[in-house]
Amino acid sequence: MARINKNTQSTNLVIYKQEKDNSMILVTGGAGFIGSNFVRDWLALNDEPVINFDKLTYAGNLSNLASLEQDPRHIFVRGDICDTAHISRLLAEHKPRAIVHFAAESHVDRSIHSPGEFISTNVNGTFSLLEAARAYWSGLDGDDKSGFRFLHVSTDEVYGTLGPNDPPFTETTPYAPNSPYSASKAASDHLVRAYFHTYGMPVLTTNCSNNYGSFHFPEKLIPLIISNARAGKPLPIYGDGMQVRDWLYVGDHCSAIRRVLEAGRLGKVYNVGGWNEMANLEVVHTLCDILDTLDPKASGSYREQITYVQDRPGHDRRYAIDARKIERELGWKPAETFATGIRKTVQWYLDNQAWVRDVQSGDYLKWVEKNYAARDTAQEQK
Ligand code: NAD
Ligand code: TYD
Repeated sequence: MARINKNTQSTNLVIYKQEKDNSMILVTGGAGFIGSNFVRDWLALNDEPVINFDKLTYAGNLSNLASLEQDPRHIFVRGDICDTAHISRLLAEHKPRAIVHFAAESHVDRSIHSPGEFISTNVNGTFSLLEAARAYWSGLDGDDKSGFRFLHVSTDEVYGTLGPNDPPFTETTPYAPNSPYSASKAASDHLVRAYFHTYGMPVLTTNCSNNYGSFHFPEKLIPLIISNARAGKPLPIYGDGMQVRDWLYVGDHCSAIRRVLEAGRLGKVYNVGGWNEMANLEVVHTLCDILDTLDPKASGSYREQITYVQDRPGHDRRYAIDARKIERELGWKPAETFATGIRKTVQWYLDNQAWVRDVQSGDYLKWVEKNYAARDTAQEQK
């Protein structure tokens, strides 16, 4: 059966893929927030199957993929990217035409409490995956070899922090990671780069800003605020709440990755962002205001639950992405504004309360206890 690609842009890679009857891709970390959005979107747009390789850590959740349970195009394999032998067996068995690498430890606060896991998965795991991919790719020939891609999904946090008037990060901004998380991602980016320059492996790297959307684990700011607000709990703002992030709707991140996979230049880096810089306090106010409309409290506003707590150590003040390269070279730009994306997101959380309850498992509760109990409530509620 020929696989049909419904993307409109036609490239050699797409034509190659359509002609190759049994093509498939391997995704790592596809049971997490962005990975599961990517896999669902991919299978909604393509018939090309996905092997989804995920360790199922606290952040990986098969219920994120429940809609694909009966879908033969989705092959889930539980495994650890540190296990080179396991990945090598999978590559030999399924012969994917590309690897899209999402698997990582992803939460900055957790990296401050327990950096070891971040080094193990993000650095050693990416290395193991690269080694398995290199051996596999080296054994390919012809179109299979030239068409192969390794796409590494990374973060804007590798570039460090910006002052209020600094220009946004470009692909040539020097790396200056400040947290164990961003340092581990920076290390993985460097390894990916080295595999291109040393071995000629066909790699691509994307560095993206903060994502938000459905299936976002409620340890991160936006889903945490929505679930705490509805539970009548404090809405914790680290420090003064004036740290700035660029926010990108997860569906837009997935479309950027598809586009880079399809047409990105080998060995190149593409910054992906939403042109949506906002201070955390403004994000939290927006969430409270939407909830006040969609799910009002008996009296008062959700804003009354805002509580200032002790800041994150080494907290980066500002991230901002210059996403002009991906627009100029590949014609990608985000489809959602923050106003449209955040409303959809709040509505999704209101419609999927069972999912939130399920992920708030024993491990989640232990994490909340550890992260927030140690923080002094910095000031009175404002
Ligand atoms: P997540 O924490 O929600 O999911 C990570 C997934 O990786 C989980 O399913 C987990 O089970 C899996 N995993 C962890 N360790 C593994 C291992 N050793 N072997 C196999 N699987 C393992 O993360 P996310 O927010 O979906 O982020 C995905 C990727 O995107 C990460 O590489 C992250 O650095 C990057 N990124 C995230 C954001 C963001 O805002 N969330 C922004 C830019 C880049
Ligand atoms: P987060 O969602 O953890 O993403 P990242 O640290 O990767 O940017 O946090 C987003 C911002 O929100 C960050 O500046 C830290 C802040 N924050 C809070 O103020 N309170 C919280 O409880 C959390 C989890 C984050």
